[in-house]
Amino acid sequence: MPDFAALRKQFPVTNKYAYLNHAGIGPLSTRVTEAVDAVTHDNRDHGGINFMQWSDAVTHVRAAAAKLIGASPDEIAFVKNTSAGLILVAAGIEWKPGDNIVTAEGEFPANVYPWLFLKRVGVETRFARARDGRIDPEEIADLIDARTRLVALSWVEFATGFQNDLGVIGDICRRKRTWFCVDSIQGLGALELDVRRTPIDFMSAGGFKWLLGPMGSGIFYCRQELITQLVPTFAGWGSVVDHMDFFKYDSPLVDTARRFEESVPAVSAVIGLGAALDTFLEIGMTEIEKRVRYLTDVLIEGLQRKGYRVTSPHRTPAERSGIVTFNHAAHNLDDLEKRLTEAQVIISKRGHSIRVSPHYYNNEDDIKQLLDALP
Ligand SMILES: Cc1ncc(COP(=O)(O)O)c(C=O)c1O
Repeated sequence: MPDFAALRKQFPVTNKYAYLNHAGIGPLSTRVTEAVDAVTHDNRDHGGINFMQWSDAVTHVRAAAAKLIGASPDEIAFVKNTSAGLILVAAGIEWKPGDNIVTAEGEFPANVYPWLFLKRVGVETRFARARDGRIDPEEIADLIDARTRLVALSWVEFATGFQNDLGVIGDICRRKRTWFCVDSIQGLGALELDVRRTPIDFMSAGGFKWLLGPMGSGIFYCRQELITQLVPTFAGWGSVVDHMDFFKYDSPLVDTARRFEESVPAVSAVIGLGAALDTFLEIGMTEIEKRVRYLTDVLIEGLQRKGYRVTSPHRTPAERSGIVTFNHAAHNLDDLEKRLTEAQVIISKRGHSIRVSPHYYNNEDDIKQLLDALP
């Protein structure tokens, strides 16, 4: 088993808080800040002399991001946030009036507005209903018709923690010949995913939550066969084969996902993300998911013992995620939030519940600190 107690030492946030808000913003480890500091200090002291080294580092991060999800580095583009990747898809499909997109109620707005804005070109956005926080794949299937070009869904729903079954929904999309785009920011880093076994076409995740990377970093995945089918609406000088041949204006677009990067990525943010990814790869996502499941088991059991109602779907392990939500009929949410904040327990309030989202470096004491602070 990985030495999670040793890994915890890389997270100074633990000195002050029981930090249980990775569904909000994740903290940076010292390994990440050291990597970011190294490149910014290099830039401070040597200007751009070592640019090629930064460029090599970015190449390493692309490979690490690919490895995390079982993709090829050619299928990865860096984006500044989740939205940017989803917008690449919205802007990259050649829509015709009367086309439609299927998404669901309760989605974070990052995965709603890019589709709603397509109304101007005659595209309809359809919403599957969420019942008790669950989205039924059959309801998604029923909303798909001959004019559905895309199903756009979160891997894990931000407010309920419900984990959509990407395999089942992806299979439906393949059968019905529509593309499947996944907002994976609430799953990636906490749960295991292999795109070689899961029928996903596009995926986007900001690096600042469960991936424990800097804000401004993010990963966009485009399935190999679709790289040349998605229109590179935002292509720029960085998107072409001979991008370092500055006077050549007829260079073709690269046939990798790098064509979706218009220029140089946010180097320090990407390098910081790379340091976080290296830790994930060293531990292994199987072990990390196991750890997150263990801590959420302890949490759910403790909440129920104290008479709290766990509101995140938890009938089966498969529908759970790193997010657990709860409330209590006799306790006001603002009061619960205040007590937790006073006890240095960091959570967030979403809808009618408190949302708790522990990560691998958290421990049983963090969960106890939360439970002890609850009336
Ligand atoms: C499901 C989901 N998607 C996207 C985001 C954020 O989008 P972006 O990375 O574009 O800020 C969040 C939370 O902030 C989220 O919970």
